[in-house]
Amino acid sequence: MSKIIKWGILGCGRIAHKFAEGLKVLPDAILEAVASRTEGKAESFGKTFGVKNIYKNYEELVKNPTVDVIYIATTHNFHYENALLCLNHEKPVLCEKPFTLNAIQAEELIKTARNNNLFLMEAMWTRFLPCIVKLNEFLDEGILGEIQHFKADFGIKQELEPKGRSFNPDLGGGALLDLGIYPISFARMIYKQSPSKINSSAYFGETRVDEKSCYLFEYENGQTAMLSSSNRLIMPHDAFIFGTKGYLEIPKFYHPSKMILELEGKRKKTIKIPFKSTGYNYEAKEVMNRLNAGKLESKIMPLDETLEIMKTMDILRSQWHFKYPGE
Ligand SMILES: NC(=O)c1ccc[n+]([C@@H]2O[C@H](COP(=O)([O-])OP(=O)(O)OC[C@H]3O[C@@H](n4cnc5c(N)ncnc54)[C@H](OP(=O)(O)O)[C@@H]3O)[C@@H](O)[C@H]2O)c1
Repeated sequence: MSKIIKWGILGCGRIAHKFAEGLKVLPDAILEAVASRTEGKAESFGKTFGVKNIYKNYEELVKNPTVDVIYIATTHNFHYENALLCLNHEKPVLCEKPFTLNAIQAEELIKTARNNNLFLMEAMWTRFLPCIVKLNEFLDEGILGEIQHFKADFGIKQELEPKGRSFNPDLGGGALLDLGIYPISFARMIYKQSPSKINSSAYFGETRVDEKSCYLFEYENGQTAMLSSSNRLIMPHDAFIFGTKGYLEIPKFYHPSKMILELEGKRKKTIKIPFKSTGYNYEAKEVMNRLNAGKLESKIMPLDETLEIMKTMDILRSQWHFKYPGE
C-alpha cells in the first residue's frame, strides 16, 4: 500500500493554484501546508483548497515536520534559494521549470540533494502526461524509423508588463527560460542527448530580456531540431517529429491530448489520449511514487538531464551575451 504524501506549496501564485487543483484527484495526496510572502495570499489560497497550515513565510513551511515534500512555485529567480532552503531542512523538492536561472545553480542544488539523500525533480509536467508517455513508447518501438528532425515553437502573446515575471530581468524574465525550455526539453527527450552544435538568434525588447529567439540544434549523427519561443507572438504550439518512416504531429505539444501519425504509404491516423484534471497531477503522482519507493530522483525527468538542459540554455544566453542581474 502506498503511503499518503503530505504536500507543502511554497509560493501561492498562478501555477500553484493549478497544481493544487491537480492534487485533488490524487487520493493519496494531501495538501498539508502553504506559504506565501504576499499579504493575504496564503490565507485565501488555504481557504480555496482547505489547507490547515498557512504560513506568511517560507521558513515556517520548511520547518513543519508533517510536510513530506515541497512544490516550489515562485518565479524563476527564487528557485535556487527556495530549493536550497527546503533541502537544507531535509525536505524533498519538486521545483517548477526552469529549474534554476543557470547550470551553476542547478549543479549546486543537485549536489545538495544527493549529499543529503533527498528527492529532487524539475517540474517539467509535459513528460508525465499520458500522451507523452505513449509517444515515448512509439519512439522506443521505432514506429517512425530513425528520427531525423524535430520542429516546435512556443509563443504566447503577453502585454508588456515591465515589473511582471515575463519581462522583468530581476525575476528571470525572457521567453527562453519560460517558454523556450519546453521545445528544448522535448528535443532532449526524443533524441536522448544534447545538441553538439547550437546556432541561435534572439531579439531583445525594451526591458532587455529576450522576447523572441530561435535555435537550430545539430546532433552527433546529423539529426536536427528547429525551435523557437516568444512572449510577444501568438504561435501554434504544434510539434513535429520527422523520422525515416513518417512523422508524428503533436498539437499543443506542451500539454497534448492527441497525436497525428502519418507513415509512408498509409492514411493519417489520430490517436487521442486525453489527460485528467489540470495535468499537473501526473508529475505529482510521479513524485509520490518515487518517494514511496525510497528513490531520490525520477527516471522520466532525471537530474542529469535537467542539468544538461540548463547548460544548453546557458550556451544560448552566452551566444546573446545575456546575463541576469547577479550572474
Ligand atoms: N508548469 C507550467 O505549466 C507552468 C506554468 C506557469 C508557470 N510555471 C512556472 O511557475 C513559476 C511561477 O509562475 P507563476 O505564473 O505562478 O508566477 P506568479 O503568479 O507571477 O508568481 C508566483 C509567486 O512568485 C512570487 N513572486 C512573484 N513576483 C514576485 C516579486 N516581484 N517579488 C517577490 N516574489 C514574487 C510570489 O510568491 P508569494 O506567494 O510567496 O508571494 C508569487 O505568488 C515560474 O517559474 C514559471 O516558469 C510553470
